Amino acid sequence: MEDAKKDIEELKQKIRYHDYRYYVLNAPVISDYEYDQMMRKLKSLEERYPQFKMPDSPTQRIGGKPLEKFEKIKHKIPMFSLEDAFSPDEAREFDKKVKRFLKFPSEKDISYSVEPKFDGLSISLIYENGILKQASTRGDGVTGEDVTQNVRTIKNIPLKLIVKNSPVYLDIQGEAIMFKQDFANINKEREETGLPLFANPRNAAAGSIRQLDPKEAAKRSLRMFTYSIRETSSDIQFKKQSEALELLKEWELPVNELNKLCLSVEEAIKYKETFTQKKHELPYEIDGMVFKVNEIDYQNRLGHTTKSPRWAIAYKFPPEQVTTTIKDIKVNVGRTGILTPVAILEPVNISGVVVSKATLHTWDEIRKKDIRIGDKVFLERAGDVIPEIIKPITEKRTGKEKIKPEPKECPVCHAHAIRDGAYFRCPNISCPAQIKESIKHFASKRAMNIDGLGDKLAEQLVGKNIIKNVADIYDLDNKIIADLERMGEKSAQNLIDAIKNTKNITLAKFLFALGIRHAGEHMAQLLAKHFGSLKNIEKAEKKELLSIKGIGEEVAQSIYDFFREQKNIQTIKKLLKAGVKLSEEKIVISFIFGKSFLFTGTLRTVTRNEAKDRVEALGGMVKNSVSKDLDYVVIGENPGSKKDKAKQWGLNCIDEETFIKLLSKK
Ligand code: IVH
Repeated sequence: MEDAKKDIEELKQKIRYHDYRYYVLNAPVISDYEYDQMMRKLKSLEERYPQFKMPDSPTQRIGGKPLEKFEKIKHKIPMFSLEDAFSPDEAREFDKKVKRFLKFPSEKDISYSVEPKFDGLSISLIYENGILKQASTRGDGVTGEDVTQNVRTIKNIPLKLIVKNSPVYLDIQGEAIMFKQDFANINKEREETGLPLFANPRNAAAGSIRQLDPKEAAKRSLRMFTYSIRETSSDIQFKKQSEALELLKEWELPVNELNKLCLSVEEAIKYKETFTQKKHELPYEIDGMVFKVNEIDYQNRLGHTTKSPRWAIAYKFPPEQVTTTIKDIKVNVGRTGILTPVAILEPVNISGVVVSKATLHTWDEIRKKDIRIGDKVFLERAGDVIPEIIKPITEKRTGKEKIKPEPKECPVCHAHAIRDGAYFRCPNISCPAQIKESIKHFASKRAMNIDGLGDKLAEQLVGKNIIKNVADIYDLDNKIIADLERMGEKSAQNLIDAIKNTKNITLAKFLFALGIRHAGEHMAQLLAKHFGSLKNIEKAEKKELLSIKGIGEEVAQSIYDFFREQKNIQTIKKLLKAGVKLSEEKIVISFIFGKSFLFTGTLRTVTRNEAKDRVEALGGMVKNSVSKDLDYVVIGENPGSKKDKAKQWGLNCIDEETFIKLLSKK
């Protein structure tokens, strides 16, 4: 037993170290395989000895259940914002003000810590004795939201600081961001799932931090950079911002490598200017550089206004804007029938990329910005990734510009368009555009994974009326495919083989592949877990769907409606007849799930808090007072009056050993 405890501690430390090498230093020293083996070993040890499974374990990053809402948190110290500067002169003006305030002669040079200004979400992290206890958003600066569960899933944030003498109390500020590559991947996936795209990595990061389900947040690959020590217990001392950054690094928190100590404002301005070009090459977005007076003593003397500190300024990059002309506004039909207006542009180069299209999102947006066909517009590459039309240059109008009316019909199948919230939608589920998109989705990697069935092929198959729904894919034969453009006999055979290969599929993947509105990958997994079989899902009443944690009204309605539509049922029947076999997934739900516990007396092998964490992590509840509906009362040493009451009421009383056994019962 003691050995197990030691092994677990050792593995935890090793994994933490390798997480640090991989996620913070970007310099792994072991292979993914070796890492996975360690993780697997730790998991299995923790399964066997659940009393040693602690919230700070790397296996417990995604622990909690979906939340109903985020709790509000009042910051002990307000989280300020920063004043902006947009030109070298404004930066010099700031430097002068600093000196005036400190009563320094104007020729004295002030040292600045110059740091990238990340375009993300400001987060305060509270570590107590080295353990991450709380993470909250900035909110309005005074009150933020408790996003601890989601921040725990950020891989470069240690759950436990790897230092010998961890400070008793630490409040650290940093920025949660999404790297450009992760942003691109997520948008691609959202496109495949029929979800609206995020406009830029900042919005994607914000959306992810505000996910109520930590499992969803964990999939979003968020990262953080830390840049301030807001408050600390007296065991930690530093005199300069540059020293604070060194301390953060020592604690193995992620600190950006481009931070630089500059000895004067001129040096700071020069350093900032090197980023005008360099920023495009960074894997994440920055929208300026922050100049911070380096001496903490000066910072304290300068203090802050109601909104921002007097000792720092955000020197912003000018937004990358160009002008171009809108040649036309076309309507794009998505998989779920959403009609999106897309501006066709006079091609234009913006920060190194030629742009010829830009989404206008919704007609409400077009109207709000008053964008017309023929308009000259300002185009900004928001977030370096998706070009965004900012506004029309109305002064340049000739009177020939045309308003794009709201769509009356689907541009492809001409079905009558219906209004659906902010969107217009083509209601015809047999619409060729929707069919093409749903075939692409059905075949996509995370769904049925039919290699070779992409955009071009789907377009031909639907355009030539060869397939009318996803089930028709299974009617295809070599000859039909080989006759298509750019397809030979070899690639036809490969495709047929790939289709055959999909005949054994998990229920979750199959559900996802069907492309039910609002039912992304995670929802599909929840459904598969809860119902275990397709039959049960088909029969499910809305009430039962709503009883599943993580499924809300909109999703439940959409799933319910999907299985009431005869066309969908026929498609499913045809797929099953064609030989698609669903492997029922093994459903492993802990015995603890949904059970309520009360503890009284001292436990020997775990603390009360650890016991509570464990129960909650497995989906159980811990109550503080005796009530008739309690499932178990755990009696420790020297129990209080609660024990007598529980016995009197005939509740199920168990000892610590039995409780520990229940933790690993399935
Ligand atoms: S220092 C007292 N450093 O910019 C203010 N902020 O407009 C402490 N930000 O809310 C902030 N990168 O979210 C600081 N290197 C950096 C930053 C940074 C991004 C954000 C932060 C803040 C906002 C202010």
